[in-house]
Amino acid sequence: MLLPLLTAVTLFLAPACAVFSDEAWNIDYHFALLGAPKEETSFFHRPNPSSKASLIYTLSEEHALGAVNPRDGSLVWRQILASGGDSHNTSFLRAGEGQDVVISGIGSEVAAWSAADGRLVWNVNADGPLEDVEILELSDGKETVGAKDAVALSGGEHPMVQRIDGASGAVKWQYSIDGSDAPYQLSASSTEVYAILLHKTILDYVKLRVVALDPVTGQKTDEYMLSSENELATADNVISVGANSASPIIAWTDAAHTTLKVNVVGTKSISSFSIERHDGNAIERVKLHAPYHINSLSHFLVHYETATSHWAEVYHIDLKNSKVEKAYSLPRVAGRGAFSTSTADANVYFTRVTRDELSTVSSASHGILGRWSLSSFGVASGVGEQVEPVHAVSEVSVKGDTVSAIRTTVLLSTGDWVLLRDGKGIWNRPEMLASTVAVTFAMPADVVALAQQLEVEAHGNPVAAYIHRVQRHVVDLQKLPSFLVSMPKKIVQGFLGTSADHAAGSDIFGFRQIIACATRSGRLVALDAGHPDRTLWNRDVADLKPGQSWRPSLSSTKDGVIQVSSAAGTGINYNATDGQQLAGDLPIIPDEPDLSTSRAVRYTMRGNSLEATYDWSPSWTFTPIHGERILNLVPRPVNDPVASIGKVLRDRRVLYKYLDSNIALLATAHDASSKANFYVLNTISGAIIYSNAHPNIDLTAPVPTIMSENWFAYSFTSEASDATTKGHQLVIGEVFESLIPDNRGAMGASSNYSTLQTATDPPFTLTQTYQIPEPISQLAVTRTRQGITSRQLLAVLPASNAIVGIPYGIVDPRRPVNRDPTKDEQAEGLMRYAPVLDFDPKWYLNHQREVVGIKNVVTAPALIESTSLVFAYGLDVFGTRLSPSFSFDILGRDFNKFQMLATVAALAVATFVVAPLVMRKQVDQRWRFL
Ligand SMILES: *[C@@H]1O[C@H](CO)[C@@H](O)[C@H](O)[C@H]1NC(C)=O
Ligand SMILES: *[C@@H]1O[C@H](CO)[C@@H](O)[C@H](O)[C@H]1NC(C)=O
Ligand SMILES: *[C@@H]1O[C@H](CO)[C@@H](O)[C@H](O)[C@H]1NC(C)=O
Repeated sequence: MLLPLLTAVTLFLAPACAVFSDEAWNIDYHFALLGAPKEETSFFHRPNPSSKASLIYTLSEEHALGAVNPRDGSLVWRQILASGGDSHNTSFLRAGEGQDVVISGIGSEVAAWSAADGRLVWNVNADGPLEDVEILELSDGKETVGAKDAVALSGGEHPMVQRIDGASGAVKWQYSIDGSDAPYQLSASSTEVYAILLHKTILDYVKLRVVALDPVTGQKTDEYMLSSENELATADNVISVGANSASPIIAWTDAAHTTLKVNVVGTKSISSFSIERHDGNAIERVKLHAPYHINSLSHFLVHYETATSHWAEVYHIDLKNSKVEKAYSLPRVAGRGAFSTSTADANVYFTRVTRDELSTVSSASHGILGRWSLSSFGVASGVGEQVEPVHAVSEVSVKGDTVSAIRTTVLLSTGDWVLLRDGKGIWNRPEMLASTVAVTFAMPADVVALAQQLEVEAHGNPVAAYIHRVQRHVVDLQKLPSFLVSMPKKIVQGFLGTSADHAAGSDIFGFRQIIACATRSGRLVALDAGHPDRTLWNRDVADLKPGQSWRPSLSSTKDGVIQVSSAAGTGINYNATDGQQLAGDLPIIPDEPDLSTSRAVRYTMRGNSLEATYDWSPSWTFTPIHGERILNLVPRPVNDPVASIGKVLRDRRVLYKYLDSNIALLATAHDASSKANFYVLNTISGAIIYSNAHPNIDLTAPVPTIMSENWFAYSFTSEASDATTKGHQLVIGEVFESLIPDNRGAMGASSNYSTLQTATDPPFTLTQTYQIPEPISQLAVTRTRQGITSRQLLAVLPASNAIVGIPYGIVDPRRPVNRDPTKDEQAEGLMRYAPVLDFDPKWYLNHQREVVGIKNVVTAPALIESTSLVFAYGLDVFGTRLSPSFSFDILGRDFNKFQMLATVAALAVATFVVAPLVMRKQVDQRWRFL
């Protein structure tokens, strides 16, 4: 009676507790990034004149154009712009006052984008690399309504200035620049457009040539030379603000930074100011900050920087006689600083960000309108490293004589992009991760310790292992007091189903691994795969000078040490847990040869015979056919555990896998005949195990390859021909010792084996080709601790900004062709072969999110067998955990602890209540028989 009641209660509770969210968005994480914002292409702007709130717009170093919501740092929209060649990658982004479009310029393309949602409004090709793009803010009163026009200055063979209609993108006029002077920048005042050109003198000095154009007709109205002979050594000493303002200026210094010269563009007078020295160090950089609005006061700020400090001076321009006068100075402060300019009506405000303070002054006087101290920017950095501002943009509102609200976004030296509201950190976008070039997983110290203990227990004898385990738990008991303190919280979390995932504490599953990312700017950034929104540490490891680059390769050891090496340097070790550099003699990790540029196959694919005397001469050479180039060469991963040497068939017979740790997949291309060849090579003997040639390949499309265990996969795009249409294909091959079950081929009976002896029987390769709906740019495979779990093939789909995980069983080359599978094959999970492979929506690891610009996917095993960690990088960063054979060794999130405990309790109560009844019944029964 009681029991049914309790059962009913439990059942009644069940629905309430059984609501569990999908694991998506819990176990995976995604940073939609833009890349480091550039100072001159970042600004606050209202997406349309009627909206109250502004967004932050930027065009980044990675050529991503986007809008970010200043409230929470979320991305509103973004567009990835093609750079049109690496040699010329300057880019521009402008927004006219009160306009609902932003205008970008990159390569030779000028484009207008809807500021609210990022839709393309128009684009136009400028017929030459762009040198500058500006928006015409004419004050003739005619053009205040509607879209404002843009002017573009382009170089190349036919340098010219063009006026582009703001509404349609049509070219209104163009002015061809004569002579051989290099176009440099545009400036526009309310009545004129100025093209500034660099004129090389005979002595290799630079002079500035200014050409004034009528904005309405594009006719030249004036032309003159600025700066005297021998004054400007290089264009690097020109500091300028392109731009619209009531009085556009151009400034330059001599090479030693002793004098500053300023010219109000449109006049010929030049004002000279001697630059004061504030400390013993040479001035390294001079920057100019001026308002971009035509109605603003014509004041500007000059920012001086030395290796150890910075200061600034504010200048006013007298519009009547175009005279420039120094107004006041802002004092020298140690470290780097950033200045930003904001306007409100005609007023101009300069905001200064230093290591520990944010302050705002009016351009008219040096009185401080607002000052906030910054304790730190709240970002992770290297041990002892000072985080410094690199550049900033601000939005200021001033009431009376004080700043009532200020929002400032600052790019920091760590690569983080942060927003400060009234001096308080609001959000942080880890934009440095957008330039990740190499990644490795590493174990944090506590997991290393646990893994070592488990290793001891796994390999000792059962008794010793048991004693070891008991000892381990005794040591764990020392943590009991702190555990008890956290008990109530844990119980609540347990009941609410917020499982162990996000609870702090030790990680017994190995999910909380450290992901170390090396960035193009020479930093090493460590993320916690369990708490990815937190950067563990972020340190400069390469010490790159401006213009230098590095090609790092990363690896990690079992005991939580990350090794960094680059083409130039030796390996340096860092502790993965805290980023400390480790001392000691360091091994050198050879850089992987750059196969994409190398035609010297002899070097890259040299096998070596392992004899007592190390003979480093090539033991074999693979020479591609004349005219072939190597696309890529992938070996089997070094750490590629295989649980079983064969495939056990339904009838208990075994198909032996061809497992050789020295096999590699080589892809070559023959451009003349658009053919791609794929070879599986034995890298010790040089034997070709498998080869296949595909004609009619689009060799400009990516050709990704992967090799693991005894199988390989590659994908390509084939051109349309008479017989076939253009399509994307995925080929899977699996290598067996023999295709006859229980037969190991010729080698089977021999007790010893040498790769160098030519095998009499080559292994057998089964391959299968699948038509796939879209191209794949990169292939990867899940990895687990012992290789028992089945595999998933991870494919990056650049066309849909997605990553799919294809279960190996789906693409198994053993799928029966042209017949239905037999009962035995069905039981093995083999389906009838179908040439078209559609991507199942369930395979999309990214769910609805767009994962943009992925260049590589890395995987690592967790401590438990069922799970593989996945991390994808490129522009965006995406990570997740995969259990290709489901979580057979861990309780899922959906496991209802409360229900289980309630059931146990109910059974206990029931036993307690029912036991006397049963007892009495038994006693009664005995009496009855008497
Ligand atoms: C742009 O080009 C310059 C040299 O022309 C180079 O130093 C810089 O790294 C390039 N930037 C990007 C993002 O490619
Ligand atoms: C790394 O640092 C952690 C904590 O700072 C420490 O416990 C661990 O022993 C260190 N590992 C190595 C290899 O030095
Ligand atoms: C390997 O096997 C061959 C015959 O199968 C035998 O001649 C040779 O001596 C063996 N080598 C070793 C090292 O056992």
